[in-house]
Amino acid sequence: MNAAAGSAAPIGMFDSGVGGFSVLAQARALLPAERILYVADQAWAPYGDRSLASVRERCFVIVEHLLGAGAKAIVVACNAASAAALHQLRAALPDIPFVGMEPAVKPAAAQSRGGVVGVLATTATFQGELYGSVVDRHASGVTVVQQAGLGLVELIEAGMLEGPEVEAAIDAHLAPLIAAGVDTVVLGCTHYPFIAGVIRRRLGNGVQLIDPAGAVARQLGRVLAGRAIAASADAGGGVAYRTSGNPDRLRHQIRMLVGEESPDTGRIHL
Ligand code: DGL
Repeated sequence: MNAAAGSAAPIGMFDSGVGGFSVLAQARALLPAERILYVADQAWAPYGDRSLASVRERCFVIVEHLLGAGAKAIVVACNAASAAALHQLRAALPDIPFVGMEPAVKPAAAQSRGGVVGVLATTATFQGELYGSVVDRHASGVTVVQQAGLGLVELIEAGMLEGPEVEAAIDAHLAPLIAAGVDTVVLGCTHYPFIAGVIRRRLGNGVQLIDPAGAVARQLGRVLAGRAIAASADAGGGVAYRTSGNPDRLRHQIRMLVGEESPDTGRIHL
């Protein structure tokens, strides 16, 4: 499937909603000539509270859609979806290059001075085998404190990025991490960079935040170059946004979070 997709084909990227925009921004900055087809599965968001099996099922449906639209590579711009399905997608579609998210425990463990690292991610991400294997492989000698995000994705999808309600929610999440003495916190959900400013303020100086989006974009660049399917430098690039939810709401979210005034948006029935 899609063996013929060449360098002019789009990259498929998806998330449960707008979280993947944090990865999209890095990918566009690094690879401006690429066309990207972004799917927000907002009719099914949030993924984080769903079973891994149901998230996996959605991932296969979305990937099928992206491949049907000619995608040459797929970025799973969602930690929960990567936890639920990345391994299975790669096994089922060995010819398709997949780039996924994994909680950035490796750089966090390397950078932590005090050896106590916090990971903020959704429940689904912590349940996946990927998380356990990342901790096993990269966190020896480091204490990893996990904190499940409850309700944060909903706030971000609603456009609430600051203010007392957001601060209260963030404080409740950070309290156990602060009590454990973390000096490094991993943003293990692609939505969270949109509230990173508040998280940073509430954590205070001396605690560093790690967002893997830049590393994921660089990995995407390597994968495209390695397969010789990168867009030619003079190609136009750009993003088409599709949602399984409400396209008017998505347009509003794009204006607010991406700053694009007239995005190409539409509804898909998946
Ligand atoms: N943005 C997502 C992630 O990285 C999913 C959040 C959700 O839908 O719960 O995990």
